[in-house]
Amino acid sequence: MTIRLALIGCGGISKRHREGYAAIKAAEPELFELVAVCDADRARAEEAAASAPAWQPAAPRVFTDIGEMLEGERIDAADICTPHFLHHVAGVQCLNAGVHVQVEKPIGVTVRATRQLIDAARRNGKILATAENIRRMPGPRTAHWLFHERGLLGEPVALYAQRVQTQGMGGPFAGATTGQEAPWVWRHDRTLSGGGPVMDSGAHFCDTIRYLYGDAESCYGRVLQLLDRRARRGDELVPVTMEDTFMATINFAGGAVGSWSVSRGLPGHSFAAVAYYGREGAIVEPNDAFHGPRINSQVVLRDGTSRPLAEYYREYLEALGENGRQRMFPHGIEDGFALETYDFLTAIRDGRPPEIDGEEGLRAKAIALAIYESSTTGQVVRVEDVVAGRACEYQRPIDERWGL
Ligand SMILES: NC(=O)c1ccc[n+]([C@@H]2O[C@H](COP(=O)([O-])OP(=O)(O)OC[C@H]3O[C@@H](n4cnc5c(N)ncnc54)[C@H](O)[C@@H]3O)[C@@H](O)[C@H]2O)c1
Repeated sequence: MTIRLALIGCGGISKRHREGYAAIKAAEPELFELVAVCDADRARAEEAAASAPAWQPAAPRVFTDIGEMLEGERIDAADICTPHFLHHVAGVQCLNAGVHVQVEKPIGVTVRATRQLIDAARRNGKILATAENIRRMPGPRTAHWLFHERGLLGEPVALYAQRVQTQGMGGPFAGATTGQEAPWVWRHDRTLSGGGPVMDSGAHFCDTIRYLYGDAESCYGRVLQLLDRRARRGDELVPVTMEDTFMATINFAGGAVGSWSVSRGLPGHSFAAVAYYGREGAIVEPNDAFHGPRINSQVVLRDGTSRPLAEYYREYLEALGENGRQRMFPHGIEDGFALETYDFLTAIRDGRPPEIDGEEGLRAKAIALAIYESSTTGQVVRVEDVVAGRACEYQRPIDERWGL
């Protein structure tokens, strides 16, 4: 069966998803076909459709409304790349129409939104996958192997991820520290995004640290907006309500502890210190406090000896054997976007759960939310209380805005 796929949301990240589709198509042409693209902005949908014939025979149909797309085209699976506040709206609509769904991180805009997605998938007997590309890449996969299979680093005990960035910031942080006006985007409004870096890029980090250190038990956090910013939306200057700074302590159920802090709101001096420690050594990441450990990290052992993570990656590939390599890096694909969609599509084909389903996505997101909830109440927050919907002060205005 060739899976009939739709792409919903054809903005920034959809380009990386489409490159992923091209890589999968080259390896397994019969697995899927992109039959529809949908974006509220027709020009974006048209651009996405026009790019498809470079890697599949026909262009997909173009839609600007999800309901019309579901009525007008036969679709088996949808890949949702919309702003966060629409993840549950688009996802539930698709699931209720009998369509399997992959949703970009950080799954729902709040826990309640995420529960709607999980419930709709269960009710309709369809797959719900969280699109999470980072843990599937060579760096995190090798780190997981070093910690949990090869045993080189010993038991995971601590992590430090600190970064202050004062220059070279783009996207919603463009002009942040120079006082320049940024063009307004949905990320500037907390009720549309659900939060800034803690749960936007932070969703990746929360997933990776769960992957490496296990479930988090509790968090204490301070989330701050040090910069008083306005962004331009048409003729208006709109206040930015996205944090630029946070500091958090994360306590893992297995006993490890993490210190995670990032600022894009401080002046002048930038620095970074990111290291993932086990009892016998550490993976030292050059500077990324969100998307690591990258393959250009260094592994440093108790005796001070040091080797690039990339060398251990080669050992890992050998240890995997042919079947293992096909499982972790099918057809030699190393790109996380291609790998997440391949996992989603083959989960549908083979009738198995995806690696990161709705619950797994929620548990990663709950770490980020525990940090916001802690900052809101000034208390240490148990991650389980976030998952269960008991810790929800921070999320309340967002839930109210979307009638959740
Ligand atoms: N995996 C990663 O590394 C990564 C990186 C960036 C973004 N993301 C995630 O991807 C998602 C999208 O982010 P982005 O940066 O591409 O945002 P974006 O603003 O560039 O794109 C969102 C698109 O959704 C469209 N849209 C809005 N309302 C719609 C509707 N009702 N129906 C259909 N389309 C609609 C917009 O017109 C826009 O083209 C977010 O969940 C974000 O967190 C993931």
